[in-house]
Amino acid sequence: MSLPRPSAPLVLGVESSCDETGLALYRHGQGLLAEALHSQIRLHQAYGGVVPELASRDHVRHIGPLLRDVLAQADVHLADVDAIAYTAGPGLAGALLVGAGFACGLAAALGIPAVPVHHLEGHLLSPLLADPAPAFPFVALLVSGGHTQLMHVRGVGDHTLLGESVDDAAGEAFDKTAKLLGLPYPGGPTLARLADAGDASAYAGLPRPMLTSPDLDFSFSGLKTAVATATRTPGFDASRHADLAAGFQAAVVDVLVAKAMAAITRTGATRLVIAGGVGANAALRARMGDAARAAGIALFYPPLRWCTDNGAMIALAGAMRLARGAPADTDGAFGVRPRWPLDAAA
Ligand code: KG4
Ligand code: ZN
Repeated sequence: MSLPRPSAPLVLGVESSCDETGLALYRHGQGLLAEALHSQIRLHQAYGGVVPELASRDHVRHIGPLLRDVLAQADVHLADVDAIAYTAGPGLAGALLVGAGFACGLAAALGIPAVPVHHLEGHLLSPLLADPAPAFPFVALLVSGGHTQLMHVRGVGDHTLLGESVDDAAGEAFDKTAKLLGLPYPGGPTLARLADAGDASAYAGLPRPMLTSPDLDFSFSGLKTAVATATRTPGFDASRHADLAAGFQAAVVDVLVAKAMAAITRTGATRLVIAGGVGANAALRARMGDAARAAGIALFYPPLRWCTDNGAMIALAGAMRLARGAPADTDGAFGVRPRWPLDAAA
């Protein structure tokens, strides 16, 4: 008589690196069992950006109720959880500490491992939550509020940085440009909506920084400055906002598409994954789709709700780390790394 095969561990994921508290339950073989998210957008809106101390306090308020929520959704008890994965960095120090303290305290109390996860690895692996999921290896374009990076991903914890922004991240450029046009926080999605109503050709002259540079790096601060200059030209008024937003978005998309395709050529990869908040941008999706079809490569996105910060990607990344025997914390001690290069997270 053969013994029943032990099932894969049930992993609780905890994300609290910035302005979203996200929890989720994931098990290899079964996939995502539950997820819950609290967005702090309304809390920070009055300030025009994320206020770190308010973010930390709000994570404290919501993390417990969100845990109860995912346990109820999956119809499991806390005692059924086998490991807790948490975002250990990069991000806001206070916000990270809330999630790390919660995850590691709970893990110590339950006598189960706590698995520190790199936030960007979560984004990088989030397309694996989708069906169909990309097989390794692939090129990943990570476009979030804090990072713009091209990575060659051969497996979990096995990636090479191909290029990155030398100044502003793409999401940051969206947010700052939105602020210039008087749009409320968070600016990226609002600017994108405004751009959809505009005519990009009215601002076709906006720069495409580093478009043809031989490396795979990006630069967006010059574009942001060009937008600021455009708003100061005589006669510029609100009637031109949509056109300028469209022109800005077209310039960012041109650069992201060109560099992603150059990374495909350089690595010989046949799969491209777009991850991070800017991956929700419809214009980027449309243009990247055309380029991928022309190049004959497969293009993967996480579904929209997993493009921005969430607990599901952290639970998944933690489960994958556990599966390959990566070290976990079992002594209740923990630390966070507000600045943490992804290549140092092997
Ligand atoms: O990945 P994410 O949720 O958080 C970070 O880890 O940074 O990304 C947030 C970024 C913000 O800069 C936001 O403005 C941008 O993603 N974003 C967008 C869109 N949705 C979110 N940018 C352009 N178009 C969108 N539709
Ligand atoms: Zn993120």
